Amino acid sequence: MDKVIIIGGSGAAIVIGEAINHAKEKFGLNAEFVGLLNDADVSEINGVPVLGKTADAANFIKEGYKFLFTIYKMGGQPGRIKLFRDLKIPDESMFTFVHPLSFVSPSAKLAPGVVVMPNASISCGTKIGKCCLIMSNVTIGHDNNIDEHCFFTASSCLGSYLEIEEGVWVGMNGTIRGKQKIGKHSAIGIGSIVTKDVPENELWIGSPAKFHKSVNDKITM
Ligand SMILES: CC(C)(COP(=O)(O)OP(=O)(O)OC[C@H]1O[C@@H](n2cnc3c(N)ncnc32)[C@H](O)[C@@H]1OP(=O)(O)O)[C@@H](O)C(=O)NCCC(=O)NCCS
Repeated sequence: MDKVIIIGGSGAAIVIGEAINHAKEKFGLNAEFVGLLNDADVSEINGVPVLGKTADAANFIKEGYKFLFTIYKMGGQPGRIKLFRDLKIPDESMFTFVHPLSFVSPSAKLAPGVVVMPNASISCGTKIGKCCLIMSNVTIGHDNNIDEHCFFTASSCLGSYLEIEEGVWVGMNGTIRGKQKIGKHSAIGIGSIVTKDVPENELWIGSPAKFHKSVNDKITM
C-alpha cells in the first residue's frame, strides 16, 4: 500500500488527499493519504496531520513514502516550481493519482505526480507533464502537449492540439480553444474563453479573453 504525503496546505492538498482516501475506501485503490508537508509551524491543517516541513521530504523518501505537490497559485509559479525541484524527489517516489471516476484515454501519457480528479476526462494522444493537477470535471481534448506544473481548476475545458507551457493556471470554467499556445506561467481567469495564443506571464480574462495584467502584478483570487 502506497503511503502518500502531499506537499501543500489547505485547499488543493486536502481536497486531493480526501479523494485518494475515498478511492481507497470505495474502489480499493492501493494507496492512502497520510498527511502533509508544510513550512508553517503547525501540527495539523483542517484536521490533517502536518508530518514535517518541505525540507523533511528527504527523510520520508528514504522511508518509502510517495509524494504529490500541490502548491499552486495564480502568479509566482516559478518560485513554487523551484521549491519542488530543489527537493529532488525522484520520479519513482512521486505518486500519480487517477481517481477511478475519471476517464483517461489508454493512449494519453501522464508523467509522475499528475493528479486526475473525479469526473475529469483526458482524451487520446494527450501528454501531461509532471505534477499537473487536473481537478474535478475538467475536460482535456486530444493530442495536447501539456508541460509540467500546470493547474486546471474545476470544470475548465481544453480543446485539442494545444501547446500548454510550464506552470499555466486555468480558472474554473475557463475554456481554451483548440490549436492555441499558452505561454509559460500564464493564467486564465474564471469563466474566460481563450481564442488566441497567450504569451508568457500574462493573466487573460473575459470572453473572448484579453490581456488583463501581468501575473506578477497584484491579483485578487
Ligand atoms: C481574474 C482574477 C484573478 C482577478 O484579477 P484582479 O486583477 O484581481 O481583478 P479584480 O477582481 O480587481 O477585477 C478587475 C475587473 O475585472 C473583472 N473580472 C475579474 N475577473 C474576471 C473574469 N474572470 N472574467 C471577466 N471579468 C473579470 C472584474 O469584474 C472587474 O471589473 P470592473 O473593473 O468592471 O469592476 C479573478 O477574478 C479570477 O478569475 N480568479 C480565478 C478564480 C478561480 O478560478 N479559482 C479556482 C478555485 S481554486
